[in-house]
Amino acid sequence: MLKNKKIILGITASIAAYKAAFLVRLLVKRGAEVKVILTDAAKDFITPLTLATLSKNKVYTKFSEEKSGEWHNHVELGLWADIMLIAPASANTIGKMANGICDNLLLASYLSARCPVMIAPAMDLDMYVHPSITKNINTLRGFGNIVIDAEEGELASGLLGKGRMAEPENIVTYLENYFSKKQILKGKRILITAGPTLENIDPVRFIGNYSTGKMGFAIASVCADAGAEVILVSGPSHQKIIHKNVKRIDVRSAEQMYEICNKYFETCDSAIMCAAVADYTPEIISEHKIKKTEAELSIKLKKTVDILKHLGKSKNNKQVVIGFALETKDGETNALEKLESKNADMIVLNSLQDEGSGFGTDTNKVSVFVSGDDKIEFPLLSKQQVAQNIVSKMLDLIEKKNYNS
Ligand code: C5P
Repeated sequence: MLKNKKIILGITASIAAYKAAFLVRLLVKRGAEVKVILTDAAKDFITPLTLATLSKNKVYTKFSEEKSGEWHNHVELGLWADIMLIAPASANTIGKMANGICDNLLLASYLSARCPVMIAPAMDLDMYVHPSITKNINTLRGFGNIVIDAEEGELASGLLGKGRMAEPENIVTYLENYFSKKQILKGKRILITAGPTLENIDPVRFIGNYSTGKMGFAIASVCADAGAEVILVSGPSHQKIIHKNVKRIDVRSAEQMYEICNKYFETCDSAIMCAAVADYTPEIISEHKIKKTEAELSIKLKKTVDILKHLGKSKNNKQVVIGFALETKDGETNALEKLESKNADMIVLNSLQDEGSGFGTDTNKVSVFVSGDDKIEFPLLSKQQVAQNIVSKMLDLIEKKNYNS
């Protein structure tokens, strides 16, 4: 599975750096090509000579060679790799990655890499549970990076707890699983909506909602990593996605989102409607800013097109349509009602009552409803993991429909 895979292994300053030597050996044995980037401080824990010998490649530490002045191009390194693995990833490096700091070759390569990035954190147990580390790790997850959770056991400090870097064998298994599952959606085209829609009232005001787009972007990145061609129709959102498989189309209003979805749906295998689309929009958009007067003001709203319902009704017998339900009460009843009324194949319910769920968080707790099946309840997970669960359920549904037709 790892044969001929090009891997950049970033090693940072942690006692666990000694395990990186075993990791390189295991990767090379499986036929991977490994280029190591060491941070300066990591050299106190493991030598470049050991890593160069085991990887059979030059080891990179600085932007340029001290003697010859030869420049190490971080952009080229980033483009060369099929995957970038940072193991061990120290608290310091994780913090810098989460904040766009770029003061060494490893961080510059991280920022310019177009390939997927995995990190295996290693630190003491109290550091690992510090809110700043949790926040930084969740930020990296939000960027689409994959985190290989630290393991429990004895730590360098002598304390017992969670913080040990995952064992090299486990990291290799993780990589193998990742590459074997990688292309499960190759040849599939998936339409995804994300973020809020904003409905203009006048040139300076609008009706909106708190959606940030995090869930929809996570689904887009999981689909793209799995080989799908993704059409991501996003309302105004600060989320970023850079992936060769993703065509991002930015829209503002429900009407614009509907037009784009309608245009692309016919050629798609599945649609995942994750956007928080406005149900109503002002009947008239005032050409000029509405002036304050002594009188009350009413704005007449008209219904928007229900995009999910429209796609659900117009799908063919192979297309899979998935909707979301964000409820503040009677979640299950509403989800089941939506499954039916929108002719959807699956509804993902998240409730604003569950802590850690809903708008703006990096985590989500969802239940999935498929017609004719029992509901599946997932625990609170990162949005990336939730996206993986949704995508794998979607693939089951696509395969079932293709088999039956
Ligand atoms: O009916 P409700 O708005 O609660 O349903 C939510 C689901 O419907 C979400 O998947 C959302 O993306 C979709 N939706 C839509 N077009 C609308 C309103 C909601 O696609 N105008």
